[in-house]
Amino acid sequence: MARYLPQAAEWPVRIDLYSDTITRPSEEMRRAMAFAPVGDEQKGEDPSVNELVETVAELLGKKAAVWLPSGTMCNQISLAIHCRPGDEFYCDRTAHPLHAEAGGAAALAGAQPRALEGARGVYTATQLEEALSPLSRYAPRPRLVWVEQTANLAGGTIWRAEDIEAVTEVARAHELATHLDGARLLNATVATGVPPSSVAASFDSAWIDFSKGLGAPAGAALAGDEDFVDEAWRLKQRLGGSMRQAGILAAGASYALAHHVERLADDHARARRLAEALASTPGITLDPAHVETNIVVFGVDCAGGAEAFLSHLLAKHGVRGSLAGGGRVRFVTHLDVGDSEVEAAVSAVRAVLAEP
Ligand SMILES: Cc1ncc(COP(=O)(O)O)c(C=O)c1O
Repeated sequence: MARYLPQAAEWPVRIDLYSDTITRPSEEMRRAMAFAPVGDEQKGEDPSVNELVETVAELLGKKAAVWLPSGTMCNQISLAIHCRPGDEFYCDRTAHPLHAEAGGAAALAGAQPRALEGARGVYTATQLEEALSPLSRYAPRPRLVWVEQTANLAGGTIWRAEDIEAVTEVARAHELATHLDGARLLNATVATGVPPSSVAASFDSAWIDFSKGLGAPAGAALAGDEDFVDEAWRLKQRLGGSMRQAGILAAGASYALAHHVERLADDHARARRLAEALASTPGITLDPAHVETNIVVFGVDCAGGAEAFLSHLLAKHGVRGSLAGGGRVRFVTHLDVGDSEVEAAVSAVRAVLAEP
């Protein structure tokens, strides 16, 4: 048995607010997948994958895109293209590669992160400017500026157009590359109305994930100019990310793009309602105004801290959440969470916190 099992639930999960990654494909999505035209993806001959990457390239306003098995691979390949070993990349301290990509930045690209202390995941141009290493034989070479839209562990925060403009302006001034981790870019699009192509325009590389709020079982697409995507293909092949009849999966992603984008607004509305109800619960620290998309991060005053709170919630009420770092709890709304689940989750939280 592997020693490092992810946190498999020891108790039956009735309401799963762990992440928007846990959604299961709907019957219609499965049907679209089952009958998708397929071919050898590695050779560029899978029509369903080809159609999807064209759609994504257009959506992100880039010349080309490549299908990859996961968002993690999009990030790791981008790091390896933009950085040489020893180079430095600038990101918020909550950025995904710092916490959940198994040290890939160090292990694969050999890049060194400089974590900035942003406000709920959003750092400023001044913070970036002040953090840049000097061009000196002693310092790591500044190479890449990184933005995560939305900022997941920080609570699904949206980077506003002006925030992005300011930090990418600094990047341009210093001839640094720019990367957009768009795992939840479409959540931001639905919340703000700013098209994905406008956001991605400031970045050399950008990607979206199909297996999060969009509800597909797997896959992500990484976009950039033709040289970037050619290089991404080389690394995809090297890492074993090239596939064969991947159109089955890509068809799920295309179905998600066609049917599950607008409905992200429902997840946001539910997250907001959840946040408002939790904020009025004694023992919870949360400002509902900070909940901008489908992620609710809060502090909890419970003996044993956030971990004990989550175990009680799961063991006694079948409600699963996750840790967001800094002793905080994260709940995420998604396709498989309706109004009744939100209400039941709030009652469960109140019951746990009311226990002596
Ligand atoms: C912001 C962010 N980036 C990257 C990833 C990695 O995506 P994947 O799970 O598809 O590898 C995640 C996954 O949760 C994420 O939240």
